[in-house]
Amino acid sequence: MSKVLVTGGAGYIGSHTVVELITAGYEVVIVDNFSNSNPGSVDGIERIVGRRPALVEADCSDYAQMLQLFKDHSGIDGIIHFAALKAVGESVVKPLEYYRNNMLSIINLLSLMKDFGGKHFVFSSSCTVYGQPDILPVTETSPLKPAMSPYGNTKKVGEEIIRDTVLAVPSISAIALRYFNPIGAHPSALIGELPQGKPDNLIPFITQTAVGIRPVLQIFGNDYDSSDGTAIRDYFHVVDLAKAHVFALDRLFKGNNRKPLEFFNIGAGKGITVLEIVKAFEKVSGVKLNYEIVGRRAGDIEKVWADTRLAESELGWKAVSTLEDALLTAWNWEKRLRGL
Ligand code: NAD
Ligand code: WQD
Repeated sequence: MSKVLVTGGAGYIGSHTVVELITAGYEVVIVDNFSNSNPGSVDGIERIVGRRPALVEADCSDYAQMLQLFKDHSGIDGIIHFAALKAVGESVVKPLEYYRNNMLSIINLLSLMKDFGGKHFVFSSSCTVYGQPDILPVTETSPLKPAMSPYGNTKKVGEEIIRDTVLAVPSISAIALRYFNPIGAHPSALIGELPQGKPDNLIPFITQTAVGIRPVLQIFGNDYDSSDGTAIRDYFHVVDLAKAHVFALDRLFKGNNRKPLEFFNIGAGKGITVLEIVKAFEKVSGVKLNYEIVGRRAGDIEKVWADTRLAESELGWKAVSTLEDALLTAWNWEKRLRGL
């Protein structure tokens, strides 16, 4: 059984990925400092798969703690690296915290892989590296744009650190998955997204508005170039995203990768407006959403969606869940969180 370290494995995407990894037969060690999660998600994972993964509470940006982890858990063959701070707006206010947390974590993990003989690294990158693309849908070879925030820059520089490392250390190979907008929760409603305070992201804001925690959903801008004037993103189910990590890891373990570092867009490949999301949510939940149109949010791009043909042909991965499925699971998760 191959042993995989999943950093940030208690978080939103990490917890769903751990479920898929265990189901696929991988042995998982989770490391998380619970800065944006809690051990309850590991309980959820255990209830879904019937087994509790090893869990280490530690900070990936702390080299001594990570060294201890590698000594305690020998034979880590692969790493899926989710652990990062991810709030775009907060990163503008606290750039040094973001650079320290996100950059040092990558550097520590790659250094320890080199020293302990780990071979395979999967990195959580983001469509944010493309900024506002000139041509849509965006392909992996589209030019990268200057980052719009320190958070975005940690993904861009993270990719560069990995690129330089795999060139210098031939035993390590890596895949960077550039996620578009993952949404939803596990169909069991035992794990899902846990935003702290007021959500930044659209779907948790919608579900919190629908249960009455938020009085009104503000839609940021209706003067964009789209069918209804609201901005376009590529939303897709987090369980599909979780599975993409298993495909990526399998590819590295089998040596099927064509280059020491490969990039894949991971999305549904379809652009959806904010108002279309609102309408679809109202349909699946039966709840009428209170919303108002306000001005554009600073730093937002107008539209982006993925060309996912490379992931399909090379990884054998494709998003299969519908938007309605994803929204329904997000809704069921919110209701369960609130005891409804
Ligand atoms: P999340 O906050 O739910 O998960 C991140 C986890 O990492 C949390 O459990 C947090 O406690 C942990 N963590 C953070 N810093 C740590 C550290 N130094 N040491 C140990 N644990 C640490 O976020 P998520 O949405 O699951 O995102 C996972 C990854 O995917 C992140 O790298 C994020 O930047 C990236 N990503 C997310 C999205 C999205 O829309 N959610 C899109 C693109 C990329
Ligand atoms: C989606 C759309 C908003 C909230 C962010 C990060 C990005 C990536 C994914 C990690 C936009 C609109 C939102 C609200 C709204 N994360 N919206 N009212 O902006 O695509 O990207 O998450 O890498 O880096 O920037 O996602 O969910 O915040 O917004 O109208 O209350 O919904 O303007 O058009 P976004 P989002």
